[in-house]
Amino acid sequence: MIQFEERPGILDLGWGHPRPALLPTAGWPVAAAGALAAFGWRALTYGYAAGPPPLTEWLAPRLGCPASSLFVTAGASHALALLTALLAEPGDVVLVDSPTYHLAFPMLTDARVELIRAPADDDGIDPGRLATRLRAIRASGRRVAFLYLVPTFANPTGRSLPPDRRRALAELDLMIVEDDTYRELVYDGTAPPPLWNGANVIRIGSFAKTVAPGLRLGWINGTPELVGRLSRLGYVHSGGGLNHTTALTMATFGTSGAYDTHLATVRSAYRDQRDALVAGLRPYTEIDSPAGGWFLWVTLPPPWTAATLLVAAEARGVSFVPGPRFHLHGAGGEDRIRLSFSMLPTPELTEAATRLGTALTGG
Ligand SMILES: Cc1ncc(COP(=O)(O)O)c(C=O)c1O
Repeated sequence: MIQFEERPGILDLGWGHPRPALLPTAGWPVAAAGALAAFGWRALTYGYAAGPPPLTEWLAPRLGCPASSLFVTAGASHALALLTALLAEPGDVVLVDSPTYHLAFPMLTDARVELIRAPADDDGIDPGRLATRLRAIRASGRRVAFLYLVPTFANPTGRSLPPDRRRALAELDLMIVEDDTYRELVYDGTAPPPLWNGANVIRIGSFAKTVAPGLRLGWINGTPELVGRLSRLGYVHSGGGLNHTTALTMATFGTSGAYDTHLATVRSAYRDQRDALVAGLRPYTEIDSPAGGWFLWVTLPPPWTAATLLVAAEARGVSFVPGPRFHLHGAGGEDRIRLSFSMLPTPELTEAATRLGTALTGG
């Protein structure tokens, strides 16, 4: 019934899913009833193509953009698939960060584009080297549709692109798709400003991490002209705004104040979960604590590789996603692993850390 594979005896740090107890099973029905009371039959009919104004007008000031620059989607994955279909022709190049969100690769290649790795180091994409690569690709006669990256509390690294690189990237003559899915899951300080500039940067986002993945609700934040193009797509014209009833429920969840209360709860819980996993692992290896998001990106001490550690770890009842999964064609990240602290409660994260540490130290 759900997208999750139970593995008895294994504490699986591979899943980037919310902890079930943090899903708003009590608050969401209240919002659903509130939306029906407020909007009546309008909540259940075909919706306005770009998404219902009660949602976009609540969301826009939070994102620091005009409501006219928002198009509601069925999640961030849908946003990326839609943009790729709209902006890329088969055979075009799409540039991707490395490492990056691994499930973006098949979403992009579904549109029969060629993926090319943007030059990057441990701080993220290097805009100077990217400009050189871009010139070379274009000189060979290829069209570059856009660059895809997750610059804030990234999946898998948890890191954020430094401010000077953000500025330099946005100044390139290049369309950029900024996946901003983790922005609101900030635990220390504040999230860095987005790359989004109302021009060549299009931002995508989601309520999957902050509220619930099953809502299938997210957005594209582009220009009003892009919103117009999306609204005129044949299937939007035919079926109306995406997930209209859920979008109006989300608007009610937001405007009632329930979202802010819920966000404070999940931030505090995920901060505790992060701290439990980090503290549990520190006796065994060096760990950077990410300021936001759901993931630890761990560099393995030699002679471990992600592949050899996975065998040893699973034998001790703990699992993770190996680093190469997040690199295009699996090229890179052999000495890295991604650990998700989102799904398990703190006692299980502490136990998972002990099992992984024991595997690492050969105990
Ligand atoms: C960077 C990133 N983008 C998008 C998604 C998927 O978002 P959605 O559930 O809204 O499709 C995820 C989920 O893991 C993610 O990590």
